[in-house]
Amino acid sequence: TSLDAVEKGINNAELDPENSSVGFGGLPDEDGEVTNDAVIMWGPKHAAGAVGCLKRIKRPISVARKVLEKTRHTLLVGDDATAFAVKMGFKEEELLTEKSRARWEEWKKNPKHTDFWNHDTIGMVAIDKNGDVTAGCSTSGLAWKIRGRVGDSPIVGSGAYCDNDVGGAAATGNGDVMMRFCPTLLTVEFMRQGMSPTEACEKSLQRITDKGYRVSACLVAVNKKGESGAAKIGVRPFPHAIRNPALDEVRTIR
Ligand code: GLY
Repeated sequence: TSLDAVEKGINNAELDPENSSVGFGGLPDEDGEVTNDAVIMWGPKHAAGAVGCLKRIKRPISVARKVLEKTRHTLLVGDDATAFAVKMGFKEEELLTEKSRARWEEWKKNPKHTDFWNHDTIGMVAIDKNGDVTAGCSTSGLAWKIRGRVGDSPIVGSGAYCDNDVGGAAATGNGDVMMRFCPTLLTVEFMRQGMSPTEACEKSLQRITDKGYRVSACLVAVNKKGESGAAKIGVRPFPHAIRNPALDEVRTIR
């Protein structure tokens, strides 16, 4: 199902210690703690599960799926989300790797260090052979962020959104600004009005620039017909992967 595809696809990035922006090996907050945000939204029931500031658990999107499937809530946060994960059978583990700890120590001892450092997220949208849509998003958030900061990724309509009648969208970029615009909800609503996935992504991001923000923000979207699209604003290139029976490729918007 698309729900399994999004969970397992995102797990790949979460479990990769070389990926410094998602899950295990993600860069920590200013105090050296790795915290993760994730959401998964499932079209057939218009249901979502999410975790914010989740600590010491390696597969945040899978905990988000447990929130979706095992509770009547949508978002759990912090140590209480960790306690929920443990109850669901997840193991508490150190998420700092030798490499990420060394990078944090280097940042900390630099007297001119910046408050935080922008980096990436994994977002994924899938549609399965039954026509069911799932969207998800997972990140360790901004490196060196203030303790307790939660970004856009676990917020329904910001990090990811889907509507089984229309399609889905997922976001990456400057979450502090992006969550002020609910860009994935907006993208799905633009597709409902008849725009192609790419047009819908572009139009959503335009809301951000129209208000005068100059930030990096990127969206991917898939519609009910299985057509996909993407767009970005800001200077950073946006690599994204598309996979369907006819296509398996990585594209980069520069
Ligand atoms: N978009 C990821 C974050 O800002 O945390």
